[in-house]
Amino acid sequence: MFARSAAKTLASPSSRLFSSSSARQTKVTVLGAGGGIGQPLSLLLKLDPLVSNLSLYDIRGAPGVAADVSHVDTSSEVTGYAAEHLDAALEGTKVVVIPAGVPRKPGMTRDDLFNTNASIVRDLAAAIGRVAPTAHILVISNPVNSTVPIVAATLEKAGVFDPARLFGVTTLDVVRASRFLASVSDSSPSECNVPVIGGHSGPTIVPLLSQLSRGKRLQGEDYDKLVYRIQFGGDEVVKAKDGAGSATLSMAYAGAKFTGLLLRGLSGEKGVITPTFVKSPLFADRGIDFFSSPVELGVNGVEKIHPIGPLSPQEEKLLEACLPELKKNIEKGKAFVA
Ligand code: NAI
Repeated sequence: MFARSAAKTLASPSSRLFSSSSARQTKVTVLGAGGGIGQPLSLLLKLDPLVSNLSLYDIRGAPGVAADVSHVDTSSEVTGYAAEHLDAALEGTKVVVIPAGVPRKPGMTRDDLFNTNASIVRDLAAAIGRVAPTAHILVISNPVNSTVPIVAATLEKAGVFDPARLFGVTTLDVVRASRFLASVSDSSPSECNVPVIGGHSGPTIVPLLSQLSRGKRLQGEDYDKLVYRIQFGGDEVVKAKDGAGSATLSMAYAGAKFTGLLLRGLSGEKGVITPTFVKSPLFADRGIDFFSSPVELGVNGVEKIHPIGPLSPQEEKLLEACLPELKKNIEKGKAFVA
């Protein structure tokens, strides 16, 4: 059964009625909430004042995570749902975040996860299409380059796909790029907001370092090393965890960060712009209809897909290496649903 939390809001019903911030609050559902990412992500979402109801679902362990997280003294209500209650977890939700699926082990690429995660994501997308067809869907499960097209094709089949409401979460690449550039340029990550475009795996990750003065200064081996670290930073974590999985804590941080930005856009804040992997016209002429680039988030989700801006000759080369691989990944996802 459900594990409903006792965490009650401190505001009285009447004060909530007239509070403009409460009016903007929203139910958010995490699918895969019992996992390595799902647990810390649920905790971080419990801290977001724009979340009024947090719905935690997993095929195992979600009621326990919900009971635990519900004791945190923020206003949101937390409810945990066991395997057989997926529909109840999704009812009335505005945002669904999906970290469900298996993570990498040493030596694996994200594409090696396809066989297991493709069907998990397809089945969850079908349930969202049926129960919460207007929800915004944030896909964390890898391989993101394929799982996002899988969700799109599944919703399309159900006749409820809206490209403004589907996002592949590539925020960890942006977080890593900022952190790593700050380390080599002796500055703060807040001054190193690197736009990262393309997709979310190895060579499809294209950091646009030339668009920042600190990044522009890097040359030769220093530049190559930094690009490699941004593209393959996930491998550092997989290797260090030695078989116990991939990035979970930094990913939970990145997932909560992106969810928070989306909630701010949905609540009417202007000028919320961040890279995310969406259905995009930018490279449609090359047969690539999903792409990550800076996207403005607004009351309907995707408000505006920004152009990628000027690229250095090195970045042109990175983009040329990205596109064919990305195309293959996207087509693999589409073919799975077809
Ligand atoms: P994990 O194995 O610790 O957790 C996955 C959870 O999903 C488990 O609790 C499992 O019970 C649950 N699950 C499996 N099938 C389910 C279903 N049908 N419905 C609901 N829940 C289900 O894995 P972890 O480390 O949390 O990673 C999750 C995914 O996130 C992996 O695919 C991983 O590759 C991906 N990931 C994505 C990143 C990104 O930047 N987008 C970064 C790091 C990981």
